[in-house]
Amino acid sequence: MRKPIVAGNWKMHRTADEAVGLAQAIAPLVGQSLATCDVVLCPTYTSLGAVYGVIRHSGIGLGAQNMHWESEGAYTGDISPAMILTSGSTYVILGHSERRQYSFESDKMVNRKTQAALAAGLIPIVCVGEQLDQREAGRVEEVVVGQVRAALEDVKGDQAPSIVLAYEPVWAIGTGKTATAEQAEEVHALIRAFLTERFGSENAGAMRIQYGGSVKPENAEELFSQENIDGGLIGGAALQADSFAAIVKAAK
Ligand code: PGA
Repeated sequence: MRKPIVAGNWKMHRTADEAVGLAQAIAPLVGQSLATCDVVLCPTYTSLGAVYGVIRHSGIGLGAQNMHWESEGAYTGDISPAMILTSGSTYVILGHSERRQYSFESDKMVNRKTQAALAAGLIPIVCVGEQLDQREAGRVEEVVVGQVRAALEDVKGDQAPSIVLAYEPVWAIGTGKTATAEQAEEVHALIRAFLTERFGSENAGAMRIQYGGSVKPENAEELFSQENIDGGLIGGAALQADSFAAIVKAAK
């Protein structure tokens, strides 16, 4: 049995003080769910340390939203795996569609980052997902499995179980349009089939695949009850403690 994982991707929202307040509001609401669901908060870099101060003894995990693959160097504005680890984070979101779109991250970069995260002992949450025109052209499998294949190139079978994937159809992110549970499960099953072929059924069976894209308290339970959906990566609804907690409760 895979333990579901629900992560809040706070994107470029909340100053450090506001992030502390949000974490303080969330912590007591999700405490009882932690036995059956991993919960992760992903604030901006500048709030990682402050949020860690709130959740360090709570069992809630901390994650960054991006990182560089190099361990140090002349990369102005970037952050290394060790910097993220020492902020108290154990997770890092990689290859989010907004980074692919606005910061031109390629599959190759996502692969480098994934390898660097694993080498540093961070759990990568690797995001994949098709755009609307790609779905309409019948290219979902080609695009999504292609992104997974590229992101996990040279990853070894025994590393696979510590990777989390997030299937986030780009047309469903922040739009209020959620994939139906059937649409999402169909793609999750394709991803699982690829992982099984690539890493063997035991390793693939241990890998968690989150769904993301307009997850709300109203649709979370149906999505999370699908066989291959192991929790969610939550954007907008993660910015309110009560809606985030309701989504966490839907993942059992
Ligand atoms: P959303 O974002 O829940 O606001 O659609 C999800 C994400 O981008 O991770």
